[in-house]
Amino acid sequence: MSSAIDDAIAHAVDVLRAGGLVAFPTETVYGLGADASNPDAVKKIYAAKGRPRNHPLIVHLASGRQVADWASDIPETGKRLARRFWPGPLTLIFKRAAHVNDLVTGGQDTIALRVPSHPAAHTLLAAFGGGIAAPSANRYGRVSATTAEHVRAEFGSTVDCVLDGGACPVGIESTIVDVSGARPALLRPGSITAADIEALVGAPLAPAGPASPRAPGTLPKHYAPQTPLMLLEPDLILELASSMTRQGHNVAVLARSALQPLHSGITWIAAPHDAPQYAHDLYANLRQLDRAGCAAILVEQPPLEPAWAAVHDRLTRAAAGSAAPDAT
Ligand code: TXA
Ligand code: MG
Repeated sequence: MSSAIDDAIAHAVDVLRAGGLVAFPTETVYGLGADASNPDAVKKIYAAKGRPRNHPLIVHLASGRQVADWASDIPETGKRLARRFWPGPLTLIFKRAAHVNDLVTGGQDTIALRVPSHPAAHTLLAAFGGGIAAPSANRYGRVSATTAEHVRAEFGSTVDCVLDGGACPVGIESTIVDVSGARPALLRPGSITAADIEALVGAPLAPAGPASPRAPGTLPKHYAPQTPLMLLEPDLILELASSMTRQGHNVAVLARSALQPLHSGITWIAAPHDAPQYAHDLYANLRQLDRAGCAAILVEQPPLEPAWAAVHDRLTRAAAGSAAPDAT
C-alpha cells in the first residue's frame, strides 16, 4: 500500500478515536462513520444527516469474528449467511448484546452488522479495530452517495474526513436480512438477491411484516431527489416529455430503451441495460438529473424481474409522494 493511502487511513483512525465523523467508501455506497462505542460520536451522525434518533444504524466490522462483541443469540442461519456472503454487501440483523448503546440500535433489541468487502473500508476497520456505526452518507431521505464528491456535496465541512475510494462498485445499499426472529426476513433488497439467500437458507424468506424491526430505508419516501420523480412506461415518457416541453417546462429523463426525441428542453440519460450496471450508475444519474433544474424526472420503469428487485425498490421509494406535474 502506498504511504499516501497509509497516511489517509491513519488520519481517519485518529478522527474516529477523537469522536469525529469519517466518510468512507464501501462496495455499496459511502458510509458516514463514527466510533460505534462512543455515544457522543454517534450523536454527530444523527445531527449531520438530520436523521431521527430512533432510526438504527449499521455497525461495520473488519471480520465476522467480531459479531459476538455486538450480538447475542447468534442463530445457525446467521452464521451460514455470514460465512457465505461476508465480506460483502449483506447486512444481518441479530439480537443485540446487552452493552450496545441505544443510539446505535434506535432503542430496539436488535443490531444490524455488516463486514464490507471494499479494500478501503476493510483497511480502515482493521486499523481502527472496533465497530464503525455508519449509515449511508446522505442527508436523511435523500439519494445515497456513491462518490467522495457526492459526500462533500451533501455535508461540506461537517464531515471531519472523507476517504476517497472512487465510485462504489455496487452502487446501491446492502441487502438486509433479519435473522433475529423465528424465520429469516428480507428487510431491504440488494445486489445479493432473495433467491441467493433462499438458496442458502433452504426456505423462502418471510416478507418484512409489522413485527419486523423498523428500517427507515423501507419507508415509502426515501432515496429521493429534490425534483419530483415519476416511474413510467417508455411511450408515456415520450408523451409526457413532449407535452411538458411544449408547455415550456424542462424535463429530465432516465431512459433504458426509449430513444431520445429530437426536441430541446429535455435532459436525457440513456441508462445501462443490465441490472448491475444500472444499479452502479443509478444514484450518480439521479443526482445529475436533479441538478438539471427540471420540473420533473421521468424514469423508465425497469423490467419487473427478480434481478431488478433492488433497483425497483429504490426507484419506487424515490417516486413516492411525487405528484404528476400538470402538463395539461
Ligand atoms: O450498504 C449499506 O448498507 C450502507 C453502507 C454504508 O454500509 N449503509 C446503509 O445504511 O445503507 P442506512 O442507515 O442508510 O440504512 C441501513 C438500514 C436502515 O434502513 C436501518 O433502519 C436498518 O438498516 N437497520 C439498522 N439497524 C437495524 C435494526 N436493528 N433492525 C432493523 N433495521 C435496521
Ligand atoms: Mg440510507
